[in-house]
Parts: sequence; C-alpha cells; structure tokens
Amino acid sequence: MAIQVVILAAGRGQRMCSKLPKVLHLLAGKPLLQYVLEVAEKLSPAKKPIVVLGHQAPLIRKTFSHLPIHFVEQSEQLGTGHAVLQAMPHIEPTDQVLILCGDVPLISLQSLQRLTQTADDALHMLTAHLENPHGYGRIKRNDDHHIVRIIEEKDASVEEKKITEVNPGIYCLSARLLNRWLPNIKTMNAQNEFYLTDIINFAHQDNVTIQSHDVHCAKEILGVNDRAQLAQLERFLQLRLVKKLMAQGVSFADPARVDIRGEVIASIDVTVDVNVIFEGRVVLGQGCHIGPHSLLRNTILGEGVEIKANSVLDGAEVADHCTIGPFARLRPGTVLASHVHIGNFVEVKNSQVGMQSKINHLSYVGDAEIGQRVNVGAGTITCNYDGMNKHKTIIGDDTFIGSDTQLVAPVTIGTGATIGAGSTITKDVAADQLTITHRIEQRTIKNWRRPDKKERGAVTKA
Ligand code: UD1
Ligand code: CA
Repeated sequence: MAIQVVILAAGRGQRMCSKLPKVLHLLAGKPLLQYVLEVAEKLSPAKKPIVVLGHQAPLIRKTFSHLPIHFVEQSEQLGTGHAVLQAMPHIEPTDQVLILCGDVPLISLQSLQRLTQTADDALHMLTAHLENPHGYGRIKRNDDHHIVRIIEEKDASVEEKKITEVNPGIYCLSARLLNRWLPNIKTMNAQNEFYLTDIINFAHQDNVTIQSHDVHCAKEILGVNDRAQLAQLERFLQLRLVKKLMAQGVSFADPARVDIRGEVIASIDVTVDVNVIFEGRVVLGQGCHIGPHSLLRNTILGEGVEIKANSVLDGAEVADHCTIGPFARLRPGTVLASHVHIGNFVEVKNSQVGMQSKINHLSYVGDAEIGQRVNVGAGTITCNYDGMNKHKTIIGDDTFIGSDTQLVAPVTIGTGATIGAGSTITKDVAADQLTITHRIEQRTIKNWRRPDKKERGAVTKA
C-alpha cells in the first residue's frame, strides 16, 4: 500500500530571525524542505506528498512549483497537531500516513523504512538518544518501558529535562487513528498550541500499541530551529560528504575546510587543498589537483588537471593535463582541449581553446575559437562587444599573438600568423606572416636628466 506522506512546513521559524521562511534556508546549497521532499519521493513515489504551508506560503509554492506536491494551507500556525488536521480532508480514510517535519532535513530513507514497513494498527514513531537533548520533546516511558507520553522542553520539569531519549517528530499511523484523535487535542500547555505529540497520550489511553523504532544514526534527526543548529548541521553534512569522497580515493588537506554544495563525482587520486568550494555538478578526473581558495561550479575536469590557488571555474570543460591559475577565471562555455595553460589574471568566456595553447597572463578571451599550439601574449584582449552585439574572434593553429594586442571582433587570424606586440587588429590577418599595426616612433631625448629629489619639508617657490 502506498504511504501518504505529510510534511509540516507552515511554522514561522521565529528562532531563525529571518525574512526567509525556515524551510527555504540552505543546507549544503539546497533548501531544507528539498531534502525532506527527496526522501519522501524515494519512500512513496506513487503518492504526491502533502506539504502543509502557512508562513510565506506563496514563496515556498513557487520554489517547488516544478515538483508534484499537494500543498495545503494552515492559515494560522496554531501548532503541529493543528497543522496535520488541515491535511486530513485531503487524505483517504484508509491511508497509512507518515508525518515528517520540514525542518528535519537529514532523516534517512533507512530509518523511515523501519518506521513504515508494517502497516498495522499501531502508532509507529522514531526515537533517538541525544547527548544534548535540549529543545526536543522528551520521551516518557513507564516502568514496563512503554512510551506513555512526550513532554515538550517548555513543559518539562527539571527531572524530565534530564531524559535523553527524544522525539524526532516523525510518526507513521493510520488516517483512521489521526481522524479520531486530532480533533480532541487541546491547547493546555506552556505554548498554548495544539501539540501533535498529544496523539501519544491518546494512543496510550486507547490501548493502541506505540511502537518505537531507533533511528539509523542519531544525528539524522537534528532539527533546525535557529542558525546555530543550521551551522551545526551544515558541518555534520559536509563532513559526511567529504568522508564519502575520501573513501573513493580523494584526499583533502583538511576535511573541515571544504564545502560541497551540490554533487562531486571524483576519480581516484584527486587532491583538494583548503577552502575549496564545489557548487552544482562537478566532475574531477583522476589525479586532478585543486589548489586552495578555489571555486568550481558545474565544471568538468579531465585527468591530471591542475587548478592553482584562487581560481574560479564556472560552467567550464577542461580536458586532460591542463593547468589553470593561479587567479584565473573560467566562465560558462569555456572548453579547453588537453594541455592548455591558462595563467594568472586571465578570464575566458564562451570560448574553445585548442590543444597545447597558452594564455598565461592578464588576458580576456571571450567568444573566441583558438586553435592548437597558439601563444596568446600577456594583456591580449578580444574586443568581443560593440556595445550592442557580441562578435567572434577566430585564431588559427600555431599563431603567436604579441603582448597587449586587441583583437576587435569579428576577426579571423590565419594559421601560423604572428602579430606584433601592441597591435590593434581590426581586419582579418593573413596566415604565416607578421602583422603589426602602426606604432608611434620611439624617441630618445638627449641630455634629459631626472629631477633631483626634494628635501623633506622644502617648499618650491613659483
Ligand atoms: C517538535 C515536536 C517535538 C520534537 C521536535 C523535533 C511538537 C509539539 N513538538 O518541536 O516533540 O522533539 O519537533 O524536531 O510537535 N509547524 C506547522 N504548523 C504549526 C507549527 C509548526 O506546520 O502550527 C511545522 C514547522 O514549520 C516545523 C514543524 O512543524 O517544520 C515542527 O515545528 P516546530 O515549531 O519546529 O516544533 P519543535 O519545537 O521543534
Ligand atoms: Ca523544529
């Protein structure tokens, strides 16, 4: 039987002190709610999840408008029990319901499968032991070790606060039981809210079995209520992602100083220096080295590529054995063939560069097609934009572009051509010849002397 997932995401997230709704805050580059939606999809792909929204509902709807979700609104956020009640009219009475929280992003499929494997008349809930249970509902058991109720932090006595078994806020039970209990929840508690956790009391009173299931790993139930918890979860998740890559043969100079905000697919013997950020989908070929303080976004590196310090690669494809940087910027549409060298303060955009070509110093290459074994001298600029439109520069194989050349596009440089330093090229250049634009004659001024250095404080009279 397909399980109906309900995700609670209507709360204001007051403790975040933010205009952005809590479930849209990012964890490893992805909104919190997206994690919960992804695990829900894996668990119950046949049924659209119901997401209960309230605070800033339109923004959340818009963010996830591409996904199959049944949104339900809770116009006033009167508590978690009230939130689930809003979903009930949209749930078939014979369904088994899994309740998840939008602010508990790392809950694993394994734990949820434990919780949902038996669809019976029991109330199934996850439990976990936390060294620091502060902020979580505590699980109260009787002498027979049966769960009798959940006590919220704000309602707990000093003794009850010492309980380290906590409520992850994730339950699975029949719609029939929810329909029976939810309307009876009252607000007699420290927060004057309709607590969903009261269903545990009702189950106990009605002799419905309360079946607890240990979570796979206690950390996965960590909830995000404030920014400190978000930062804590971020570090935990980052370390998990890094450990996975290390197990696949990637070395990190410091596993605590790297950020993966997307997916990194790496071959063996890749080394990553400190403070590297990966965003989107990044592929790293065997033996690549990523220098410190670099950012790689949606980029593919072949084998043995070396990225030197402080480089930014965004939407680039880099073939085997290229070296990039330090301080290089590759922008979307950059495609480098093997053994290309891109040096410091070089920006490349929407351009192809052929095998063994070098652009080593202070250049801008935009909308260009550069052949093989080309040497682009320091300070070369493709003038690709006329203020209205972008134009293309085509540079043939084995050309030599002298330093400080401006290539005013559209323009084509013939194979084997040499361009003298300081040229402004506005017309196509013939193959295999030296082309040079008009230079101001060089003069030497005879008998010129450098002025003498003035004494400190001396004033020159007119
Ligand atoms: C809740 C549980 C607590 C548990 C903890 C686990 C209750 C009363 N308490 O506490 O036992 O240990 O989660 O993380 O259930 N929400 C709504 N509508 C509302 C109120 C909340 O949709 O009216 C949503 C929130 O957006 C959030 C989730 O429900 O995603 C949990 O609410 P929150 O206020 O964070 O509850 P906790 O205090 O964390
Ligand atoms: Ca919470």
